[in-house]
Amino acid sequence: MNIKKMKLLAICGSPRKGNTEFMLNKVLEGAGNVDKELILLRNLDIKHCIGCCVCEKAGKCPIEDDMQEILKKLEEADAIVIGSPTYFDNVTGLLKNFMDRMHPLYNKFKLKNKKFAVISTGSADQNSIKGTIDNLKKFGEIMKMNLVGTVSVNDKHIKDEEVINELKKLGQKLK
Ligand SMILES: Cc1cc2nc3c(=O)[nH]c(=O)nc-3n(C[C@H](O)[C@H](O)[C@H](O)COP(=O)(O)O)c2cc1C
Repeated sequence: MNIKKMKLLAICGSPRKGNTEFMLNKVLEGAGNVDKELILLRNLDIKHCIGCCVCEKAGKCPIEDDMQEILKKLEEADAIVIGSPTYFDNVTGLLKNFMDRMHPLYNKFKLKNKKFAVISTGSADQNSIKGTIDNLKKFGEIMKMNLVGTVSVNDKHIKDEEVINELKKLGQKLK
């Protein structure tokens, strides 16, 4: 019998192969035997939202780039985890651009009730990283997704055993 596996999508908002990618891979590892994919925004051609709002009526973004395929993947996913390094107490520009391009999914709340998790790291204190986490949580709320957890950690500690366990547990919650 062909049992359909749940789909978990991880979105990495770092412009480099580094801490955020490492953390997201641990989340995916924790999720175990599910259909999973890590999307590295830095490798994709995703243009800026031009604010035309065509998607509000047409349901489709007129910009032809890699975002078209990602929008489909997001809609098909059962669970989504977004990760960003903290840049000036917030997400990276790379990720914010991606969030803006998710406007076509906002209109009819196409991500409603999907499981959602957020992770961030930074080199400063927790208060700074909290800015990123809070912004991503707010985004999930606007999209009516169902937050299952967050991990926020100073980058000196991402390889600590307890942090890795926390990331893997988050992966379990996304199943
Ligand atoms: C432009 C820029 C701004 C940053 N701003 C912050 C910040 O406000 N707070 C913080 O904790 N770390 C800040 N950092 C440090 C990064 O968040 C940190 O190095 C992180 O581990 C990078 O993750 P990555 O390896 O996934 O890219 C900043 C780094 C850069 C390049």
